[in-house]
Amino acid sequence: MSNEKLLEVKNLKQHFNSGKKGVIKAVDGISFDIYRGETFGLVGESGCGKSTTGRTIIRLYDATSGEVKFNGIDVHGKKSTKNLKQFNRQMQMIFQDPYASLNPRMTVKEIISEGIVIHGLIKNEKGRTLRVQELLETVGLNKEHASRYPHEFSGGQRQRIGIARALAVDPEFIIADEPISALDVSIQAQVVNLMKELQKKHQLTYLFIAHDLSMVKYISDRIAVMYYGKIVELADSEELYENPLHPYTQSLLSAIPLPDPDFERNRKRMVYDPKKHDTQYTEFREVSPDHWVLCTVEEYKNYKQAIQEKKGFLKK
Ligand SMILES: Nc1ncnc2c1ncn2[C@@H]1O[C@H](COP(=O)(O)OP(=O)(O)OP(=O)(O)O)[C@@H](O)[C@H]1O
Ligand SMILES: [Mg+2]
Repeated sequence: MSNEKLLEVKNLKQHFNSGKKGVIKAVDGISFDIYRGETFGLVGESGCGKSTTGRTIIRLYDATSGEVKFNGIDVHGKKSTKNLKQFNRQMQMIFQDPYASLNPRMTVKEIISEGIVIHGLIKNEKGRTLRVQELLETVGLNKEHASRYPHEFSGGQRQRIGIARALAVDPEFIIADEPISALDVSIQAQVVNLMKELQKKHQLTYLFIAHDLSMVKYISDRIAVMYYGKIVELADSEELYENPLHPYTQSLLSAIPLPDPDFERNRKRMVYDPKKHDTQYTEFREVSPDHWVLCTVEEYKNYKQAIQEKKGFLKK
């Protein structure tokens, strides 16, 4: 991980008008940076706005307001088509549902080479065939798979095809929207390991979206916890696990089972009650270096004290 900011998100909002229900504030003023080479985890329960965040960043939706900079360039503002085309290649997405995200009427070769054709990266058919074969092998499939259709593959294999499609245009940044949650548990680790390998090999930066913290911890350098359109806590992954401060983060952590029967017997599932604190006066505050929490001034003081006591205690 470098200290060069690849993505800068500032006060991003995505509000949907949905007739009867009024305005849904799916993403409601979130800010974070992602550094080149890192894996940034975004977690939170179903409906909290994770996919909307990813889809807005990659411009599948126009943002309601806020700023997104990629490589220092504002990609949501007015820009030349050249910048936009480059951006469309450099940022790719892997989708949650490997069944719905691959066109059933296209062969694997057509799916993977679509971006190569659109961006004019390889002009001749022979070259594209070779590139597709190479990509299939990179993601652990066979080159013979190129002529088949998506329905001939398992969920894990389809997700590998989705990864090959994303890699085909040599991106710098990949948004992986719950890439493993639709997969069998036994396959999940394989796909995560593949993503880690590819990250090293191609110096990729990831925004990794998930709804539980167990796998995200393993893959992420830093983690942001989202709750109803807002980021409530952001820290290095170790720090977040060792010293979770926001009660919602604590409730998410309390939901992770551990392979320890003693722990399991005593495990208390915490339930977060947002009414416990006055969310009207909350702001994103840095409680200890690089550890941010959405809190009131009073909570900030308490968190700061708690963390200092804990760290001071551990030093003795
Ligand atoms: N295109 C849309 N139009 C209207 N409302 C939407 C749209 N997309 C999402 N929403 C709403 O915005 C909120 C956030 O949805 P989003 O899909 O981003 O959540 P999520 O965190 O990705 O959930 P999950 O873990 O289930 O994938 C939800 O209330 C959802 O119903
Ligand atoms: Mg989602």
